[in-house]
Amino acid sequence: MCGIVGYVGKKPVLDILLDGLEQLEYRGYDSSGVAIKCPDAIKVYKAEGKLSNLREELAPHAYELAKSTMGIGHIRWATHGAPTVINAHPHTCNCGNLVIVHNGIIENYKELKEELEAKGCVFKSQTDTETIAHLIANIYGEVKDLTKAVQLATKRIQGAYALCIMHNDEKDKLVVTKRNAPLVIGVGEHEFYVASDVPAIIKHTKRAIYLTDNQVAVLTPETMVLQDENGKELTPKVEILPWEPVALSKMGYKHFMLKEIHEQPDVIRNILVGKLHTSNSPIILDEVKVNKETLKNLNRIQVIACGTSLHAAMIGKYIIEDFCGIPVDVEASSEYIYRKTVTDEHTLVIGVSQSGETADTLTAIKQSKARGSHILIITNRPDSAMAREADSLIPVSAGIEVSVAATKSYIAQLTSFYLLALYMAEIKSSMPADKLTELKSGLLTLPQKIEQILAHKENIQKCARKYSSTRDFIYIARGINYPTALEGALKLKEISYINATGYPAGELKHGPIAMLDETMPVLSILMKGSVYEKLLSNSEEAKARNARMIALTNSDDEKLDDLFDYIIRVPEIEELLSPIIAMIPLQLMAYYIAEFLGKDVDQPRNLAKSVTVE
Ligand code: F6R
Repeated sequence: MCGIVGYVGKKPVLDILLDGLEQLEYRGYDSSGVAIKCPDAIKVYKAEGKLSNLREELAPHAYELAKSTMGIGHIRWATHGAPTVINAHPHTCNCGNLVIVHNGIIENYKELKEELEAKGCVFKSQTDTETIAHLIANIYGEVKDLTKAVQLATKRIQGAYALCIMHNDEKDKLVVTKRNAPLVIGVGEHEFYVASDVPAIIKHTKRAIYLTDNQVAVLTPETMVLQDENGKELTPKVEILPWEPVALSKMGYKHFMLKEIHEQPDVIRNILVGKLHTSNSPIILDEVKVNKETLKNLNRIQVIACGTSLHAAMIGKYIIEDFCGIPVDVEASSEYIYRKTVTDEHTLVIGVSQSGETADTLTAIKQSKARGSHILIITNRPDSAMAREADSLIPVSAGIEVSVAATKSYIAQLTSFYLLALYMAEIKSSMPADKLTELKSGLLTLPQKIEQILAHKENIQKCARKYSSTRDFIYIARGINYPTALEGALKLKEISYINATGYPAGELKHGPIAMLDETMPVLSILMKGSVYEKLLSNSEEAKARNARMIALTNSDDEKLDDLFDYIIRVPEIEELLSPIIAMIPLQLMAYYIAEFLGKDVDQPRNLAKSVTVE
């Protein structure tokens, strides 16, 4: 969600900025822009839509910009004001001397804008960001020092921001700062890179500095000065990034999403290595820092997450309650933070997030931490803001996920929940030994079973084509796979824009059944086990209303052939592990429908990979 880049050094800046923005495209955006420091003045170029439009806009200026070695860039995901050229960043003050890019939301921008307009500032855009440009420029007019002006201005700003700022009168100087929004500085030889996320800098350097909230860094080709909000000098901490640049290639797949779906067997293998050796050995989960006595006596767990991670959390609840007998509440972070929650030092709070930067989840985590709860974070980004808040950190190690629609990070979150639930069950002795062994052995077989599904994906592709012209889609399931129905529907919605909904099948007759007729596809996630027969009856009810019935099943029951128009078969698996197996065809189904409809699979409209605003 919005991405900023910046560079100051000795190399031509334009390609560095454009390439950096391209690496951030996965975050989701609808316009873009750059500001380049030229010998006479800073020049700004912007475009609506994809980065290719910005490249076109820049093409006639390539020669004059070729020697510039400092600049900032931005991809914008519209919050205040439509995705137009005027609203695209960078934004400038009245005279154009000061230029900024911003990621985040300024909550008090209306008051600030009124005040600044009264002082003669003329606003060109509808954005909250332009307020910051005018505010800093106004203060700069008085103090004549960019760093100081930034420090004074940010004290007046409420909300979230990562900012990268240049001024015509401050030669070779980039000023950056942040609060509740991600920002990383890459340290090179006689150069610094700035970005919202590591992919934009990793091919240039592995040495990085993460700013903490309210710190201000002043960068020139040779120096970095780090200060707190009051100007007190601080010592920067340089970290070595655990990333490889090759991770961002499609490796021959048409889309990142398809590649990431195919990576899932290896993702599970990587997670299990070192944690689960054989079905008879205990789970090793040293990442959990809660002492064993406390774990044994834990009487409440809360899990907070958003979107796909929330669905992983719902399955996490199911298995922790089943394996360990500990009550678990799951809540959408955006709801959790605006009510009086009962959390204290006796509650284990688990935050689940692919990006580790989701604003609502981060706020919820901070609230629970302030109330004394132990914070366990399950994330794919051990370098994220959430990871830094964690008392216990379980990195899910799925590798960077580029496609906006989460696939491998979801499967990695689920695998981590299985390990956690089994680990706690062993400590609590809450599960019979043979059941533990069966589940561990089942976990070890998952990668191979997913490979079997991927090897027969043509059947799913055929099914996707058959149903791709539908306007609506219903997914039904019961028990542990109800969240799978929600996640299957979410995937389809996100990338194909078909109105898909997941229901607990028992709820169909309490309302949604009114929607059913011969145009409505209903997909039943029919895994063998405790609710199989019940779900079969619910599917009969849908069939009796002429719905177009699809089964996703691991049963070879012949009566399914009469009930369903299309059957997708997956390998046998213990019911408690079936959410992982059931999800793979649903990811493929969403992918093939969207691909068949010609949608922008990896960057669906309106969506952002890292949702850094509340
Ligand atoms: C769906 C998707 C989103 C995210 C949600 C939370 O494919 O990716 O629903 O799951 O925005 O993001 P994280 O997991 O980064 O906290």
